[in-house]
Amino acid sequence: MLHKKVWDPLVRVFHWSLVILFASNALITDPEKATHRYIGYVVVGLILVRILWGLVGTRHARFSDFPPDPAATIRQMADMATGRKRVHLGHTPLGALMIYNLILTMLVIGVSGYMMTTLRFFGIEWVKELHEAAVTWAEISVVFHIVAVIWESMRTGVNLPRAMVTGYKDIPKESLMAE
Ligand code: HEM
Ligand code: HEM
Repeated sequence: MLHKKVWDPLVRVFHWSLVILFASNALITDPEKATHRYIGYVVVGLILVRILWGLVGTRHARFSDFPPDPAATIRQMADMATGRKRVHLGHTPLGALMIYNLILTMLVIGVSGYMMTTLRFFGIEWVKELHEAAVTWAEISVVFHIVAVIWESMRTGVNLPRAMVTGYKDIPKESLMAE
């Protein structure tokens, strides 16, 4: 087993805070109450910190470590289809696309949520519909995200959820390393 440090504390705290706060606002809080807005703004704050960290953070946290890469994404899908075990130390190419999708969607949710509180956009139907549609899209994305994480973990033998908790990936020696 190779024992490799991948996720720094900021990435891990960001991830699990986002999970708890997003789920709270999507499932629990009353949108008419202030708590919903406060939690929503904390989510936006987390995303902004993560974007900054994507520019100046540790190696695998940086966007330059997981750029949107269609060719690598197709290679990863081919690996999945053919059963070839190629492990990515940081985010996988498919995972990277999901991360950009989730970050952008959270921003759309936050901005449309804020707009509903302004005089100019209060009561305007399309803003509310945008907020709700973005939340639904985020929920669908999260389902795919979780299924993909579990599938990729079983396929490669690397426990990805545990790595997001401990910061370390345990990689079987016989696995091939992707670039
Ligand atoms: C509301 C639910 C969730 C949201 C919004 C979410 C969002 C994200 C985001 C934004 C990242 C990128 C992390 C970064 O680089 O900063 C990520 C990565 C990750 N998430 Fe989640 N996540 C959710 C639920 C979960 C759950 C329940 C699990 C565990 C089963 C999980 C496991 C992971 C793992 C393992 C990674 C790293 C993937 C990799 O190795 O490339 N996530 N998630
Ligand atoms: C993680 C972020 C957020 C999530 C998951 C979320 C989720 C939701 C959901 C599920 C609804 C209910 C829609 C319905 O009535 O069917 C809603 C409504 C609402 N949200 Fe958010 N929201 C978030 C952030 C925000 C923010 C940042 C604000 C404002 C600062 C905000 C303001 C509102 C308002 C005013 C409504 C009520 C719309 C109405 O029924 O008139 N939300 N949100």
